[in-house]
Amino acid sequence: MGDVFFEIQGVSKRFEPVQALSDVSIKLEKGEVRALAGENGAGKSTLMKILNGNYKKDSGKVLIDGKEVEITSSLKAAELGIAIIFQELNLVEELSIAENIFVGRLKKKNGLVDWKGLYEDAGVLLKEVGFDIDPRELVKNLSIAGKQMVEIAKALSYNSRIVLMDEPSATLTQNELKKLFHIIRNLKQKGITVIYISHRMDEIFEICDNITVLRDGCVIDTRKVSEVSYDDIVRMMVGRDMDQTFPVRTSPIGDEVLRVKNLRRRGEAASAEFYLRQGEVLGISGLVGAGRTEMMRALYGADYTDSGEIYIHGERVKIRNPRDAKRAGLAFLTEDRKGEGLILSFPIKFNIEMANFKNILQGIFISRDKESKISERFRKELAIKIHSISQAAKTLSGGNQQKVVLAKWLNTSADIFIMDEPTRGIDVGAKHEIYELIYQLVKEGKSVILISSELLEITSLCDRVLVMKEGKISGELQKEEICSESVMKYAL
Ligand SMILES: Nc1ncnc2c1ncn2[C@@H]1O[C@H](COP(=O)(O)OP(=O)(O)OP(=O)(O)O)[C@@H](O)[C@H]1O
Ligand SMILES: [Mg+2]
Repeated sequence: MGDVFFEIQGVSKRFEPVQALSDVSIKLEKGEVRALAGENGAGKSTLMKILNGNYKKDSGKVLIDGKEVEITSSLKAAELGIAIIFQELNLVEELSIAENIFVGRLKKKNGLVDWKGLYEDAGVLLKEVGFDIDPRELVKNLSIAGKQMVEIAKALSYNSRIVLMDEPSATLTQNELKKLFHIIRNLKQKGITVIYISHRMDEIFEICDNITVLRDGCVIDTRKVSEVSYDDIVRMMVGRDMDQTFPVRTSPIGDEVLRVKNLRRRGEAASAEFYLRQGEVLGISGLVGAGRTEMMRALYGADYTDSGEIYIHGERVKIRNPRDAKRAGLAFLTEDRKGEGLILSFPIKFNIEMANFKNILQGIFISRDKESKISERFRKELAIKIHSISQAAKTLSGGNQQKVVLAKWLNTSADIFIMDEPTRGIDVGAKHEIYELIYQLVKEGKSVILISSELLEITSLCDRVLVMKEGKISGELQKEEICSESVMKYAL
């Protein structure tokens, strides 16, 4: 190791009854990009939150330039030059981009907020991250990816020496990811250290110098990225060799269950036409931002439409809102788990059951017994890492929250499942559980519409694929035509 400037020594943290971190020691050099990897619940975010002053460590030390520092608050962290980009976005929706970037430290002139200066400064930062937008725009009008770029601009606005990135890429488009990597390389050149968390292995290989793997709160090893293979990393993460192949599926495909004609979102010119068969996995591919989520939201009645006919089992149904959609047998697993998926302060069991309270009623009362049976079943099937189903959803790691969202929708009597990026933020091992689950659903005669940005999921899991580009369906691929080249051809 060369020039160690940041050191974590024997840090432990317990959330009764979970030991989230045990005796974690990590040394970081100036200007290195360090991957922090590990399964869902391994302790990555907890460590980041300790370094950012969000959580108090139980024991251990943090040293900068050989001197121990006490990171008692996020303000203190900022003063010490530690910036963080959170896994779950952390912006104030009703404020402008500029106000969000400089929240708590708005520039003043003669006692008044210097709005002109504020917008100028924000504009410079936004340019630096390559986000072409008016800093006066309200954050609530941004896409998730847009919000992520604001978070990054905010992190850069502090003169940071170390930037912690907790799954920054999960929502970014290919283009934005390129920009992010460009930013990271710039930071590196300035001697700034980056800790980079991602469940996407290809990113780790592309941008990181070294990798530290956590398992159950312990450091397993730190290695040079150039000296490890994909399988090595997986083995360190899960503690054993793992079969990375996709499950094989043989269940038959039946008759048409859904047909969509002339579906047009309000104000959009393009309309969509497609169908879905029983027992089919229909992939929706395309670049992030190609309008995949929007098309599905329109179908589900979550966005207004100008036109559209929807037939279920050949019968015309009116879907004006999500309630109509649910009644018609549709379920929508959203990509925005914080905004739409979960009530974070409520228990896991409540979150799993809220889409289908009927299931747990005994007369007009909630049956505790049915309630826990259902939640326990999903806990097992999805390997949700929790100690009790009464735990509040916010105490789960990000990936485990995602699994609860999945459980919530699987617990409905729906027979058409729309899944928007279901494996985002899910670790390599658990992804397989979700693939198995999709196959289980179609085996039971249900149908799945799968939006995914991971080409491998599209090419390996789907029976048919619709590719979208700029709001329109630009191509349809039958089973035998599905491959990454054909998908990319229509996507670009
Ligand atoms: N506020 C909290 N209260 C109770 N338990 C918590 C809290 N925050 C985290 N935990 C627990 O600590 C452990 C580590 O969680 P952490 O969020 O650090 O995992 P992670 O490695 O970031 O996982 P992921 O990849 O899913 O984001 C988990 O068992 C989690 O349930
Ligand atoms: Mg996390």
